[in-house]
Amino acid sequence: MNHMVKIASSGTPHHLRVEHDLASALRLQRLLAEISSRFVTRPAGEIEETIEETQRLICETLYLDRSTLWLFSKDHSELALAHFWQQPGSIPLRRNFVTNGHLPWAEGKIIRGESFHFSSLDDLPPEASIDVETLRTHGTKSNATFPLIADGKVFGALAFAMLKKERHWTGDELSSLKLTAQIFSHVVSRHQAELCADQLREEIQRSSRAAVLGEIAAALAHEINQPLTAILGNAQAARRFITQGNADPTEILSILDDIIRDDKRAAEVIRNLREMLADSPAQRELCCLNELVRETIEFLRPDLTENRIEYRLDLAPLLSRIKMARVEIQQVLINLVSNATLAMSGIPPEERKIFIGTRASGSAVELRVRDTGGGIPPEHLDRIFEPFHSTRPDGLGIGLAVCRRIAEAHGGKIMAGNASSAGAEFVLSLCGHPSKVAG
Ligand SMILES: Nc1ncnc2c1ncn2[C@@H]1O[C@H](COP(=O)(O)OP(=O)(O)OP(=O)(O)O)[C@@H](O)[C@H]1O
Ligand SMILES: [Mg+2]
Repeated sequence: MNHMVKIASSGTPHHLRVEHDLASALRLQRLLAEISSRFVTRPAGEIEETIEETQRLICETLYLDRSTLWLFSKDHSELALAHFWQQPGSIPLRRNFVTNGHLPWAEGKIIRGESFHFSSLDDLPPEASIDVETLRTHGTKSNATFPLIADGKVFGALAFAMLKKERHWTGDELSSLKLTAQIFSHVVSRHQAELCADQLREEIQRSSRAAVLGEIAAALAHEINQPLTAILGNAQAARRFITQGNADPTEILSILDDIIRDDKRAAEVIRNLREMLADSPAQRELCCLNELVRETIEFLRPDLTENRIEYRLDLAPLLSRIKMARVEIQQVLINLVSNATLAMSGIPPEERKIFIGTRASGSAVELRVRDTGGGIPPEHLDRIFEPFHSTRPDGLGIGLAVCRRIAEAHGGKIMAGNASSAGAEFVLSLCGHPSKVAG
């Protein structure tokens, strides 16, 4: 029993007792107001410190020796000490201390959402014998514990203890402590939800980083494959000419030039990807889209001839030069023509046609690639640019994803549709601040 309380209730004159009660009621009200305003005004990042500072404030105001805040693990199998404050010189406590079956009676009450208090360890029922042992080793003489509840679920507990002497808890004190537990419930559960949201955000960022890396690796495999195949084919042809003894030096030179050009392209693709990874954008220069188309078609011509595909160019006579990463826009055209080539492999050779056009549209320039293949099934149209969407058995489904990334990196866009006649049509639109007009 608390001697102070005993004296106050038996030996203190009535008017003094009333004054004392009024003063403590006022103190409790001030304390509650202070706690609420602390949690409202302190930034979210400082919530953990604020919790312990507030535990200290409560203890100091109400002459308590210790306050502990306990949190359940997600599956409710463990109750761990998350925050505490206690008078200096008290028996040391360890943060993250897990009850681990040492407080079974108390834990049972908390799980059921019941609060409890006792003035003396002797007041506890026989079924709390294990708890009594644990409380004794931690120096507890009196205790008041309140479950922390959010959305109807118990997620922890807030406890207050006396260590030096026992205490008789008054009704006012208990209701104030219960109110503080409600404030803590609100603050701590919100903080936990924020932590969960942060973890989720990090998780998403990590997995999208992994997806981007996967996309880059796949893009590297995809884009490097074309020049490497061409280099191999040319080297094998040159070797054949020489071993057969009919090597025409001009032809060999032209083959070697092709090899050098393809090799440079491969090197440029790698350099671009490296820049992309280093977050530094690929070199942009003022380019004429028409020139770029002509150049790229030169590069693609052998492939088109081999696949017996006729191509037509319809280039706008006057087109603004715009800033672009040349090799990237070339890559878009190569990917579009390569898709068109594959899309037409099943139709008779005389029907295989690719139309490549450019035109100005306001301050933007457009590149249009149309084929006469089977077109894109309408239900695939909104997925066609997603990485790894492919209907080809040996397709990676990365070509169009790369095209879209390049278009977006240029502040432009790429759209897919089906031509009214037959086949698919892709339009790359690049915005630019118009400069010199070029043919
Ligand atoms: N010109 C086209 N005509 C019809 N369908 C097309 C055309 N271009 C693309 N597609 C469809 O879009 C899908 C995705 O194309 P994308 O270039 O991204 O990947 P892919 O060609 O399948 O594989 P890869 O990564 O090797 O290029 C193709 O599998 C195909 O179904
Ligand atoms: Mg493709």
